[in-house]
Amino acid sequence: MTTRTPLMAGNWKMNMDHLQAIHLINELALDLQDHKHDYATAEVVVLPPFTDIRSVQTVIDGDNLKIRYGAQDVSQHDLGAYTGEISTAMLSKLGCSYVTVGHSERREYHNESDALVNAKARKILAADMTPIICCGEGLDVRKAGNQVSHVLAQIEGAFANISQADAARCVVAYEPIWAIGTGEVATPGDAQEVCSAIRVKLAELYDQATADGMRILYGGSVKSSNVAELMQEADVDGALVGGASLQAEEFAKICRLGK
Ligand code: PGA
Repeated sequence: MTTRTPLMAGNWKMNMDHLQAIHLINELALDLQDHKHDYATAEVVVLPPFTDIRSVQTVIDGDNLKIRYGAQDVSQHDLGAYTGEISTAMLSKLGCSYVTVGHSERREYHNESDALVNAKARKILAADMTPIICCGEGLDVRKAGNQVSHVLAQIEGAFANISQADAARCVVAYEPIWAIGTGEVATPGDAQEVCSAIRVKLAELYDQATADGMRILYGGSVKSSNVAELMQEADVDGALVGGASLQAEEFAKICRLGK
């Protein structure tokens, strides 16, 4: 069981228009309130599509909710002629706390490299938001037994030129690609193996205290029925949840660590 405050982040991906988003965030807030959710048991974060963020902000601010929110990606550029892009300044102005970078779907469909992930993470930190740096191996790498070295190379790339003070503000999400959206959750042992190796690497790159303070999430088919056993592991500090975060009751139950 982690000694850090667990973080449960709902990655809505390309789901929910802004009206559906208002509905979902209200339902989530009500369920958490009904169960007297203690935000010290788990911090709750939602990561809606860009077009929903303003609506989510309005509900959260208007009702003074403790749910935090952020975005699923951001540009590595500050501003200018980058058609279709969204800057960190725009997200920070909307009150975003978190931004995921290097999600496997961005790496796969948009050819995002470790260098780009690093550039985006540094922009997010410079804007005083928290990057959730995603890493994870595909099935071929897992079958060859190379998951640890593969993920650690991603971590080294993502943290290049990030200072110790900034690293301490980052969150890492380990998401084995073969477990994303497939219903095939990694065993708690699989998750712990890589999450603990990530922490050892962070201690090497920075120091033990920095690594011990950072939160490392697991992602990939997390549900209310499997979150408790994953959270038993010493180096699993929360979850990045895709599909199950689109159902308010289910996600709220995940935030209660399955209870
Ligand atoms: P999933 O997605 O929970 O639907 O497997 C996780 C993610 O991609 O962040």
